[in-house]
Amino acid sequence: MEKRAFIKSYGCQMNVYDATRMADQLRAEGYAIVEEAEGADLVLLNTCHIREKAAEKVYSELGRLKNARGASGERTLIGVAGCVAQAEGEEIIRRQPRVDFVVGPQAYHRLPALIKGAEAGQKPVDTDFPAEDKFNHLAQPTRRAITARGVTAFLTVQEGCDKFCAFCVVPYTRGAEVSRPVAEIVAEAERLVEAGVREITLLGQNVNAYHGADGRGGHASLADLVGRLAGIEALARIRFTTSHPNDMGEDLIAAHRDEAKLMPYLHLPVQAGSDTVLKAMNRKHRAADYVALIAKIRAARPDLALSGDFIVGFPGETDADFEATMAIVREVGYAAAYSFKYSPRPGTPAAGREDQVEEAVKAERLQRLQALLLDQQRDFNRACVGRRLPVLIEKAGRREGQWVGRSPYLQPVHIPADAGGIGDIVEVDISAAEGNSLFGTAVEGHARPSRSRAA
Ligand code: SAH
Ligand code: SF4
Ligand code: F3S
Repeated sequence: MEKRAFIKSYGCQMNVYDATRMADQLRAEGYAIVEEAEGADLVLLNTCHIREKAAEKVYSELGRLKNARGASGERTLIGVAGCVAQAEGEEIIRRQPRVDFVVGPQAYHRLPALIKGAEAGQKPVDTDFPAEDKFNHLAQPTRRAITARGVTAFLTVQEGCDKFCAFCVVPYTRGAEVSRPVAEIVAEAERLVEAGVREITLLGQNVNAYHGADGRGGHASLADLVGRLAGIEALARIRFTTSHPNDMGEDLIAAHRDEAKLMPYLHLPVQAGSDTVLKAMNRKHRAADYVALIAKIRAARPDLALSGDFIVGFPGETDADFEATMAIVREVGYAAAYSFKYSPRPGTPAAGREDQVEEAVKAERLQRLQALLLDQQRDFNRACVGRRLPVLIEKAGRREGQWVGRSPYLQPVHIPADAGGIGDIVEVDISAAEGNSLFGTAVEGHARPSRSRAA
């Protein structure tokens, strides 16, 4: 009987991408990828270490999996991958002896060997940052696997981070910044598009610091890369995430003006609005620099929508500091945002500070910030009512006879399924906004046909 593997991912989009690459790898090893842990011969938890809550989830999940067995009755092999694997290594097996192997985010191309070791009862732990490029050693997805994943895809172009923000574990869990060569990315994008993908989101912890080898002895910027990918005819939309304000180059801003395939939506975290806090966070820019940068980006692309990340209760944050965060949010205006209570992470500089903010204060600040951000999101969505927006149809809606797609601003848009098909971009007159979603009807005669998709 074919062995079954289940992969569960936590955390950011890079983990989602890694999970697809691990799935391709396991498929090449003869596993069928299944949607639940029940009855799986192998369960792989692809973990996140960014905040304490995220990291702790792993152990409760492992507790639940303790007695797991495959359909054949054999005990399920349990692996821990991702950023907790990197940060805690062998400690994971000490804390939960049921774990059979541990693999860090830079070593998962060695998965087949690790599984063999685990089957032999060796409990292997691989948290190396190997010299070889893991992407060159990974199995390629089959056309069928790509098509099954839908018309949008993630593509990691840059990994790791050299910024060392005082609160953040990423430079430790993902290592130093590394960019993949342009040719490798273009080949991967072409393979995706060939199988029906219409929108690609380029991923990196610091994606706009991208500087991959261009094959002519030089380096390409993210703007250069976007230009290259835009040349793939059947690729309709390009996005990238996550960016750091200090790496927002002139050419990338210009690309937002000039490159029609680059969507007018930018995730550009500022984290806080107080210069004192920004300095303590080691973000290396002031609040005014960020505001000026946004003005410049909006001058280049007036309809660009912004999203961001915020941390409240960073050590030493005063009421006045927090008000500065509220002020910058009001000044900039976000279409969407993620906000978090500061979580002290082992090994990061800020975790050792003595002026930690009380939990109740953090909770109150988070509530106020989230209320403001939610208002802005609602206003942004409502302002879309009455507009005509191009929508990429992604799948059938929950209700019969309905498609769900995405606007250029990443909002889910629900339309009657009487126009277009999955993978088409249709012009939609937006008639209502509810929660995070928009509703509308496709404008007749405006359906832009895509290339036909293989089933
Ligand atoms: N590379 C991205 C962020 C990756 S982590 C960037 O520089 O913007 C995603 C978000 O998690 C961060 O933007 C930050 O808002 C939040 N975050 C990171 N570490 C955190 C911590 N210790 N406590 C609370 N939130 C944190
Ligand atoms: Fe973390 Fe800062 Fe690097 Fe983003 S830029 S991944 S927040 S260290
Ligand atoms: Fe989490 Fe690692 Fe991503 S810590 S946010 S999974 S880079």
